[in-house]
Amino acid sequence: MLLTRKRRRAVIAGVVTVATAALGIGLSTQFASAQTTLRGAADELGKDIGVAVSYSQLMNNAQYRNIVATEFNSLTAENAMKWDATEPSDGNYTFTQADAIVDFAEDNGQTVHGHTFVWHQQTPSWVQGLSGTAMRAAMVDHINTVANRYEGRVDSWDVVNEVVSDSNGAMRDSFWLRAMGEGYITTAFQTARAADPNADLYINDYSIEADNAKSDRIYTIAQGLVGQGLLDGVGFQSHLILGQVPSTMEANLQRFVDLGLKVRITELDIRIAMPADSSELARQAQDYERVVSICAELADCTGVTVWGLRDGDSWVPGVFPGEGAPLLFNDDYSKKPAYNSVLSALGDGTTEPPTSDPVTTTSPTPGAGCTATLSVQSPWNTGATYAGTVKANQNLSGWTVTWTWPGSERISNAWSFQGNLSGATVTGSNAPYNGTLATGQTTTFGFNITKPDGATASVPTVTCTPA
Ligand code: XIL
Repeated sequence: MLLTRKRRRAVIAGVVTVATAALGIGLSTQFASAQTTLRGAADELGKDIGVAVSYSQLMNNAQYRNIVATEFNSLTAENAMKWDATEPSDGNYTFTQADAIVDFAEDNGQTVHGHTFVWHQQTPSWVQGLSGTAMRAAMVDHINTVANRYEGRVDSWDVVNEVVSDSNGAMRDSFWLRAMGEGYITTAFQTARAADPNADLYINDYSIEADNAKSDRIYTIAQGLVGQGLLDGVGFQSHLILGQVPSTMEANLQRFVDLGLKVRITELDIRIAMPADSSELARQAQDYERVVSICAELADCTGVTVWGLRDGDSWVPGVFPGEGAPLLFNDDYSKKPAYNSVLSALGDGTTEPPTSDPVTTTSPTPGAGCTATLSVQSPWNTGATYAGTVKANQNLSGWTVTWTWPGSERISNAWSFQGNLSGATVTGSNAPYNGTLATGQTTTFGFNITKPDGATASVPTVTCTPA
């Protein structure tokens, strides 16, 4: 619950690995570039790398589940939290799909970016036909019900989606605007704020990545909402076309940050006229690298969510005929060039770790089959989030890590490993999906602890043993 929210937002205090004296090597450092998963690199960077997930794939496809769990630290429901999915008829709420996605995220230590309350699409016709007064009541009830249900479990919400049109920055002529007037936006944010005061509230739109008339209008709306304390962030969907990452993107995001807002790349995909050849896939990788680097280098950019896992999962071919191949994975789950460039961009955003005050130690056994490290990702007064890394020194079919807390620290929840985790001595083994590692590969696990108020988050020595 709350633990998920506290898991990240880390500004890494310094992730550095010190080889033990027993190995006789001096200081060895492991940076994000040594990470082999997007999730590991993003965890080190203290940002979200998210993916939009389909309920049916998550339910029916083990390989999909495994990649979603190992490669991403944040989830968005591609469709399952939209109004037509959650309240198909008046007052009839259906949360099976949304619950399953939030449960999955919680089981895997992932944050959830919620999408979306108020949109002109995927909203049932019973809503669209209401009078202004009745529509307002339906909106308030809907936001209250959904936000309350996921309070403490969904970290942030796209409260309104696509409220500005594509024509010269005019407000979108939607049924919301026609029935309720422009005040519908404020009503939505006021309701969401009251329903879950701890969730970050976003306004989300497409074609606002550049400094243009549409993003100017979003800027004006954002200023008004910030003045009322109702807005926390702006979501830049970033449904982009190959070769067309706007040159003004960085400066444009910065101007929203300068309003005191967070920014987030919420629905990234980069489409190619089909069929895509290898040089286009290489250029796509460069485009991805540029977008992710912009977020990695901007402290108030909370993260990047890609809008689907495999190219075949993408909405693009259905909506933009003749275009496709917009994501990071092929349909057989192999990694596209863009995957590698995103991994490198997440690494590039790390700051050089400090040379003093090391926070991590490794297993002391020379020649051991695996080595494990812990690092503090995000401490707070009475707890902290840790990331663990296991590195295989031989081919592994499983691993076990163990350590003892020096004081009263105890694990309160954990992800990507399992076992006897809650006592003074922790013994945890791989999850079903991250036990098989080839020599040189790494994988990650993580957990939250509780600790005495104000105490430093200690970093015990970890021993790693092959299963
Ligand atoms: C899309 C989904 O990807 C599709 O599966 C669905 O059929 C239509 O919606 N902007 C948004 C997203 O905010 O909700 C949209 O998602 C893509 C465009």
